[in-house]
Amino acid sequence: MRIVDIIERKRDGQQLSTEEIQFVIDGVTTASIPDYQISALLMAIYFQGMNERERADLTMAMVRSGDQIDLSEIKGIKVDKHSTGGVGDTTTLVLGPLVASVGVPVAKMSGRGLGHTGGTIDKLESIDGFHVEIDNRQFIQLVNENKLAVIGQSGNLTPADKKLYALRDVTATVNSIPLIASSIMSKKIAAGADAIVLDVKTGAGAFMKTLEDSRELAKAMVKIGNNVRRKTMAIISDMSQPLGYAIGNALEVKEAIDTLKGEGPEDLTELCLILGSHMVVLSEKADNLNEARSLLEQAMKDGSALQTLKTFLQAQGGDSSIVDYPEKLPQAKYKIEIPALGDGYVSSMMADHIGTAAMWLGAGRATKDSVIDLAVGLHLNKKIGDQVKKGDSLVTIYSNQEDIKQVKEKLYQSITISKEKPPVPTLIYEEIT
Ligand code: URA
Ligand code: CA
Repeated sequence: MRIVDIIERKRDGQQLSTEEIQFVIDGVTTASIPDYQISALLMAIYFQGMNERERADLTMAMVRSGDQIDLSEIKGIKVDKHSTGGVGDTTTLVLGPLVASVGVPVAKMSGRGLGHTGGTIDKLESIDGFHVEIDNRQFIQLVNENKLAVIGQSGNLTPADKKLYALRDVTATVNSIPLIASSIMSKKIAAGADAIVLDVKTGAGAFMKTLEDSRELAKAMVKIGNNVRRKTMAIISDMSQPLGYAIGNALEVKEAIDTLKGEGPEDLTELCLILGSHMVVLSEKADNLNEARSLLEQAMKDGSALQTLKTFLQAQGGDSSIVDYPEKLPQAKYKIEIPALGDGYVSSMMADHIGTAAMWLGAGRATKDSVIDLAVGLHLNKKIGDQVKKGDSLVTIYSNQEDIKQVKEKLYQSITISKEKPPVPTLIYEEIT
């Protein structure tokens, strides 16, 4: 087999065979095919696309390129959730304990955040003592005992995807549905998921800005999952404004605790109940979505979701007393209000810019090596559709710097107040199965 023939065939719009795709991914993994030929092939795929079978083959070849996490010793159906990334997306922190408390095993491999989207591990590390440096044996044991554990990303998970992503980044080929869909799905499958619930975000703060693009990506991922025998479904949810009120690591931990008590923001609570219900049904802990939702609502009411969080934190070295005393979480030095400059209604809160403002405070990483400040962030006091009077606080800034002129300006640019009451954005656009 010659790579130049494979490039030529894809350039001319032909389908690549299973063997050809395996040959390419082997060549990427062992670096036996030079970057310039892989780059040319990526560009050909960008223009010519891949059919369903090619996408499934590419996904599984990338899964096999490195470690595959074996979760077979964990009893039950392991359902993973994946979000395509948003601003202030506290769902994983809520969903883990919530679905675990009704018996769904959650064996979560998580990463750190980059840019304005926070990583679950960063958020959890705002809890004194909590750590994810556990070995695979401990990880499996903890999930069997408590139904929930979080481990850091294995260094050798889907190395072919890492290599391809780096090349795509510098050859203007990131934005290809088959390449994005196989990249995301390969990581979930290599991490051991039996079933996958996808939360595909849409809007200003999302990777996919339009509903059409988000739908296409969601459909592509669901197809791949089902074609490789992982039950997969997706919802498309709003990311035109941040989710919930809190953006920032310790602030989001506090928000997750409130939500697990049933006292969280309405949008975050609803999204968690919907995603959670699908996870419960896929893991066969309930027969249908209504039954699943009742179980989850009950777990919020009777305190079992909160208890699962405490047990989980303790098991991984964390100070679980923060659940009852959240003031023990890292606190910022300054608390600064951003007052509305006029009367009206909030008509837009651009999630991407608000995320950037939080990153400037130190809540997110500008580069891979930036050090984040776990205490800082933003608390939105108003969301789209809310009425405001001049002087009302729109946002509370939690900062460790006194001079936050730039952050303030960014927030004012991101939030629009209009005279007319705007429609409240739809939270869930579609479900794709
Ligand atoms: N996220 C991924 O993991 N892969 C992509 O290709 C794009 C976004
Ligand atoms: Ca939030």
